[in-house]
Amino acid sequence: MTRVRLHDKEFEPFLPASEVAAAIDRLAVELTAKYDGKRPLFLGVLNGAFFFASELLKRLPIECEISFVKVASYHGTRSTGTVSQLIGLNEKIEGRHVVILEDIVDTGGTVRHIMDILAERHPASVSVATLLFKPDAYTQNVPIEHVAIRIPNAFVVGSGLDHDGLGRNLGGLYKIVEPEARH
Ligand code: IMP
Ligand code: MG
Repeated sequence: MTRVRLHDKEFEPFLPASEVAAAIDRLAVELTAKYDGKRPLFLGVLNGAFFFASELLKRLPIECEISFVKVASYHGTRSTGTVSQLIGLNEKIEGRHVVILEDIVDTGGTVRHIMDILAERHPASVSVATLLFKPDAYTQNVPIEHVAIRIPNAFVVGSGLDHDGLGRNLGGLYKIVEPEARH
């Protein structure tokens, strides 16, 4: 792995693809034990979760379904501020064991919002499985139950994560180089 430049920013190697794969292996074992026999519905949050969803699902030998949703934000009225909506949720949620698949949980605002929308549809259970979690940035109180990799509060790309559209295709993970650390 070498440094990469995406738009105006530089990124340095953070974790090789082999370590990302090993973390997903461990998470797959955890989810297999928890959801075997429950026919879970995995909901991948696009765009970022495409890589994680695909890598995770091929490691799960259990009966399960996968679907993808997208969070769209738009400006509502002055009183409602920014409103976000879930696009692509066509499955019946009632009575299902739902597992939200995220690329990264940072402040947790996005995942919290998705959980609120799902709760209105009366699932049997909802949990979150995420490739990356930044515990120091997290501000919500709902537990993030299934985490592949915990990372410090820094901006990373690769394995599905982007900087302004670029970098999702990079294997492994790369961490932003802050200007004062450049040489
Ligand atoms: P939240 O703060 O948990 O709601 O995360 C919001 C979104 O910010 C995530 O879904 C990502 O799209 C993006 N994000 C947060 N941290 C990073 C990062 O380190 N790299 C790339 N995207 C990030
Ligand atoms: Mg995302």
